[in-house]
Amino acid sequence: MSVFPQLRLRRLRRTEPLRALVRENHVDIGDLVYPMFVIEGKGIKQEIAPMPGVFRFSPDQLPQEVEDIAGLGIPAVLLFGIPEQKDGAGSSAYHPKGVIPQAIRTIKKTVPGLLVITDVCLCEYTSHGHCGIVVNGHVDNDQTLPLLARTAISHAEAGADIVAPSDMMDGRIGAIREALDKEELQHIPILSYAVKYASAFYGPFREAAESTPQFGDRGSYQMDPPNLREALREVEQDIAEGADIIMIKPALAYLDVLRRVRDNFHLPLAAYNVSGEYAMVKAAAQRGWMDEKRIVIEIITAVKRAGADIILTYHAKDIARWLQPK
Ligand code: PBG
Repeated sequence: MSVFPQLRLRRLRRTEPLRALVRENHVDIGDLVYPMFVIEGKGIKQEIAPMPGVFRFSPDQLPQEVEDIAGLGIPAVLLFGIPEQKDGAGSSAYHPKGVIPQAIRTIKKTVPGLLVITDVCLCEYTSHGHCGIVVNGHVDNDQTLPLLARTAISHAEAGADIVAPSDMMDGRIGAIREALDKEELQHIPILSYAVKYASAFYGPFREAAESTPQFGDRGSYQMDPPNLREALREVEQDIAEGADIIMIKPALAYLDVLRRVRDNFHLPLAAYNVSGEYAMVKAAAQRGWMDEKRIVIEIITAVKRAGADIILTYHAKDIARWLQPK
């Protein structure tokens, strides 16, 4: 075994070409998913205040945006809907002509090859802002399941490539799988937000999606941030119910969870670099306190190093621009 002074780890760090040769992880545009907010209506393109550079688009404004995204080499988008009408049952979430089916049809007409993943949840569609039906002041698990299944079907029938339930009800993967299969949508994969923590990092998203709970919080269904072993139970459960891809969310504060899940399971893994993670970087970069490009590449590389195959990030367009061959 050679040791210093024969061994010098600095030898392979001496020049950038040497460092590049031995680099273990790379950010790849082909791994990125760009999340988008679609708002019901016409002629709308509004920037989201705490998420500079991210906009809400009405479906008619999508064609140019998705052409840009596909042109940059980003393979997929994740869609969130903001409906005109909200009610207690979140009925706009599963309307066959709702905002998400409209958006999917527009995107598929414009760039058929761009993968469309849809967030399946009720919180943007319920008047109370919770991810399920509220009965006697509590979010009722079992009554929510058929509504999530109907939502997933409405997306798949409109042409979604993957459905991604983010509600954290128990049993939703099984309920959605069964409903899709019954509708002859066996080919549609489920990307499960299996490990979703009740996180303050979702703050800017809730402003973007108008989905802040009107009472209480999401602690009774999303995971408690201090827990790690419980994450493995969530993943086991979702795999047993038929999940095709597993997501960990948020990303940066949960890289240990990502690594543990990577080491224990063999499905493709996704990590969601969420709105609050994006907002912190943007705010500091705007003040000149950090180098945005370097910080973003460092963060996304860390998420990959921790074991993610797929990374959902609002930085996707910027990253794709930075990485374009010159
Ligand atoms: C909906 C949902 C949320 C996010 C993704 N899907 C918000 C929440 O659970 O409150 C957060 C995404 C982000 O912060 O970027 N349930």
